[in-house]
Amino acid sequence: MNKAIEIVDLSVKFPSRGGFVEALSHINFSVETGQVCAFLGPNGAGKTTTIHVLLGFLAATEGMAKIFGEDVRKSIARQRIGYLAEHPDTYRFLTGREALSITGRLFGMTGRTLQSNVNAILAMLDMTSAANRKISTYSRGMMQRICLGQSLINNPDLIILDEPTGGLDPIGRMNIRKIIGRLRDEGKTIFFSSHELSEAETVCDHLVIISSGNIVVSGAINKLIKPGENLEKYFMKTIQTAAIHD
Ligand SMILES: Nc1ncnc2c1ncn2[C@@H]1O[C@H](COP(=O)(O)OP(=O)(O)OP(=O)(O)O)[C@@H](O)[C@H]1O
Ligand SMILES: [Mg+2]
Repeated sequence: MNKAIEIVDLSVKFPSRGGFVEALSHINFSVETGQVCAFLGPNGAGKTTTIHVLLGFLAATEGMAKIFGEDVRKSIARQRIGYLAEHPDTYRFLTGREALSITGRLFGMTGRTLQSNVNAILAMLDMTSAANRKISTYSRGMMQRICLGQSLINNPDLIILDEPTGGLDPIGRMNIRKIIGRLRDEGKTIFFSSHELSEAETVCDHLVIISSGNIVVSGAINKLIKPGENLEKYFMKTIQTAAIHD
């Protein structure tokens, strides 16, 4: 199997009050192509920092990150990624259809190809009936779905979602879960952070758990979680053990 994500000995330090905060401390993990990997950890553990390094927004202090074998510092590494930010937002004066069309044009799509891609994404997100309304009239869940659509318009092979279900109601969360399931069935690699453990458990096949900038677990969910245990129990146990050894 090829590695969609490979993180090797990665550290990130932020300057702070004359010293520094070590947000990531020599972390290592990888995600194989076709996996759906949940990236879990308490608030401030380092999930968004890791994702920002993968996207080239932040430079590593030490170590490196690769996407499909390319160092993330090269722009070519980002061509096959779709990304949904932790607090997604877009131009609210556009309609949903316009937002998707503009994003498609940024990737060089025109004419019928653009139109059919936009229609396919709208249908997948269940947004066809709201497509011609201004985004300013959308609910939070609809905004989340349109931003997810923007991240999918270039048909990316690796989809990175930073808390895709954050702040959504149960129906909104279920919609996102279904979309992740559909993307998985299309053979995409999905790497998503989440605090919704019961939901993460239903869609992921792999787990990476981070705590205080250290990876504490990484592996296949069916090997890590014993029969009778669930992800929530496993997560609490793992985080408590990590805190004792911290
Ligand atoms: N620009 C920055 N300057 C200083 N410290 C930062 C900066 N960005 C993040 N940090 C620190 O790095 C650590 C990791 O933050 P990060 O946002 O990656 O956590 P997270 O796991 O995404 O948390 P959450 O679940 O709350 O989103 C935290 O201690 C945070 O305060
Ligand atoms: Mg975060």
